[in-house]
Amino acid sequence: MQNFDFYSPTRVVFGRGTENQIGELLKPYAKKVLLHYGGGSVKKSGLYDRITASLQESGIAFVELSGVKPNPRLSLVYEGIALCRRENIDLILAVGGGSVIDSAKAIGVGVFYDGDVWELYGTAREIERMLPVATVLTIPAAGSESSNGSVITNEEKQLKLSYDNDKIRPLLSAVNPELFFTLPREQLAAGVADMMSHVFERYFTNTTHTDLTDGLCEVTLKTLMKNALLVSGDMQNYDAWADLGFAGTVAHNGLVGMGRAQDWACHRMEHELSAIYDVAHGAGLAVLTPAWMEYAYRDNVNMFVQFAVNVMGVEGSYRDPDALVLEGISRLREFFRKMGLPATLSELGIGEDRLEEMAKKATKAAFGAEQPIGGLKKLYWQDVLNIYETVK
Ligand code: NZQ
Ligand code: ZN
Repeated sequence: MQNFDFYSPTRVVFGRGTENQIGELLKPYAKKVLLHYGGGSVKKSGLYDRITASLQESGIAFVELSGVKPNPRLSLVYEGIALCRRENIDLILAVGGGSVIDSAKAIGVGVFYDGDVWELYGTAREIERMLPVATVLTIPAAGSESSNGSVITNEEKQLKLSYDNDKIRPLLSAVNPELFFTLPREQLAAGVADMMSHVFERYFTNTTHTDLTDGLCEVTLKTLMKNALLVSGDMQNYDAWADLGFAGTVAHNGLVGMGRAQDWACHRMEHELSAIYDVAHGAGLAVLTPAWMEYAYRDNVNMFVQFAVNVMGVEGSYRDPDALVLEGISRLREFFRKMGLPATLSELGIGEDRLEEMAKKATKAAFGAEQPIGGLKKLYWQDVLNIYETVK
């Protein structure tokens, strides 16, 4: 096991009705908040009315910035920064999913950043402070409600980059699984693929003696798959949504990756798809992940045998590890298919013409200094292109 520093201070207030406590929860921290949300879903579900009532009851003033799109745009972030400065906002309340929360984090950082906030994305540069962010989560997927990341799309440059820093973890998040009942099926499916990927990116490692986190990863993956199928059968199944919501937070608050080298190649390859084609992040991951597994597993076959046996329930002879691994990957593909997820880039509307460009951007070869991606197996642009090609 490697040395680690685990700092994940987000308070998570979980369960039925917790969104109605938001005013009381924020009262010690804010007199005036920016209420940040996406398209129509929060108004349609009545959540907007409950949130604003709770703020009013607690005497918290608010100004609004709506219109966050999936794959949140830098232009709206700039608008939010100007608004917060003009209105003397104390805190940003993000009501929505990963896109709204990531946009809120970018605004919060930008308010105190002396320069263009975009300069930070794709770098490890430090910040001194930010405007705090609180969240009311409406979709279990990105894990941004307690993660240290914010992923923003620069629409002009067709780049989607993340900024990761423990200082940008939300102050608190209210998670009520009942709010997930209104999600369309394709968002459930994409969310599950994303949450599983957050575990995979940490699980597949060359670090040894990681029994505790191996086990945490495996149980998180099994919880996600079991409850995804339950919710698929009944979109109002509170208990199954509750397990998905909790697992989604655990998958990405950092804990299950402590002490182990992490991978993140699939996320890097997927962000190139979203940046150009505006696809749902989880749907892109569902296409790429099994292909990455087939491409990478020979670099650490034991890790993939463990996955096949402990997570996918494969039985067979250890004298034929390839067969075990390939059966595990095939079962994962079958699970994604059952969830209605795509298996090829063409199903996502992605043609062949820009695959090389995306492979070169993912590895920074396009910018003159190639940096291979991936922890378990290092991928150069040609490897990334090979993976894209296998699923075109
Ligand atoms: O805009 P509205 O109308 O609210 O509709 C949203 C949106 O269209 C809808 N939705 C959300 N909650 C709903 C609902 N519809 C009905 N009922 C509800 N309760 O769902 C759509 C997708 O929302 P979005 O926020 O984009 O989804 P998600 O949470 O999957 O976030 C995806 C973004 O997060 C980034 C992704 O790259 C992507 O940009 N990620 C952020 C991470 C982080 N900050 O740590 C890590 C992840 O790996 C990921 O990269
Ligand atoms: Zn993700």
